[in-house]
Amino acid sequence: MTQSKKKDDRASWRHYNFTTAGPVDDYLYSMLPKRDPVLAEMEDYASRQRIPIVGPAVARVLQQLAMLINARTVFELGSAIGYSTIWWAQMVGDKGRVIYTDGDSKNAELARGYFTRAGVADRITLHTGDALEFLSEQNQEFDIIFNDVDKEDYPRVLRLVAPRLRKGGLFITDNVLWSGRVAEKNPQEATTKAILEFNRKLYDSAEFYTTILPIRDGLAVALKR
Ligand SMILES: C[S@@+](CC[C@H](N)C(=O)[O-])C[C@H]1O[C@@H](n2cnc3c(N)ncnc32)[C@H](O)[C@@H]1O
Repeated sequence: MTQSKKKDDRASWRHYNFTTAGPVDDYLYSMLPKRDPVLAEMEDYASRQRIPIVGPAVARVLQQLAMLINARTVFELGSAIGYSTIWWAQMVGDKGRVIYTDGDSKNAELARGYFTRAGVADRITLHTGDALEFLSEQNQEFDIIFNDVDKEDYPRVLRLVAPRLRKGGLFITDNVLWSGRVAEKNPQEATTKAILEFNRKLYDSAEFYTTILPIRDGLAVALKR
């Protein structure tokens, strides 16, 4: 194994050896097709700067889910440098629309450059500011709402989503296993408590049919009935 391959295999965004045992995890990642240069550069940048992107295994699931429901509109809460945004944008087609949101204007600036270089800038609307506030202002129904903001806000996100998602649309949330902390006996962290409350309410909601895919840090996929 070359030095750079080794580095890729332990990228900070991978949550290595957590949901699947190390060698199985390696196998899953070895199955992924090579990414185009812009995405590969972003993966490398995110790993070096420790920016918590979803990474290519989860991103492929996101694209597959978008394909399954023929998604044309995606609202993303928490976009950072725009890595997951590009995967969505590649899938929504020429007339599709992806809304990027992030509270950090430096992230948005970087993301804008990546979108142009990836050839998807015309499909993306950038919003810098609070993602929950922006979602609450939306009057349309989206095909997909993707939630990747600060974890304490997850219960609040859940309250906003249903009216802004079409029937048959998907509400998808990253990090719902929180590196295993959801299984702690007596969790004290506010983030863990918020994720536990979110997962419980999502599973109990009559408006959604939910499963958690135990890939990387756990991905909740909720179908709006
Ligand atoms: C995990 S990263 C997003 C990674 C991105 N989804 C990806 O996979 O490429 C979370 C981002 O959400 C942003 N964020 C957290 N809470 C937010 C909020 N309430 N409104 C807007 N952005 C928020 C942070 O600035 C951070 O860049």
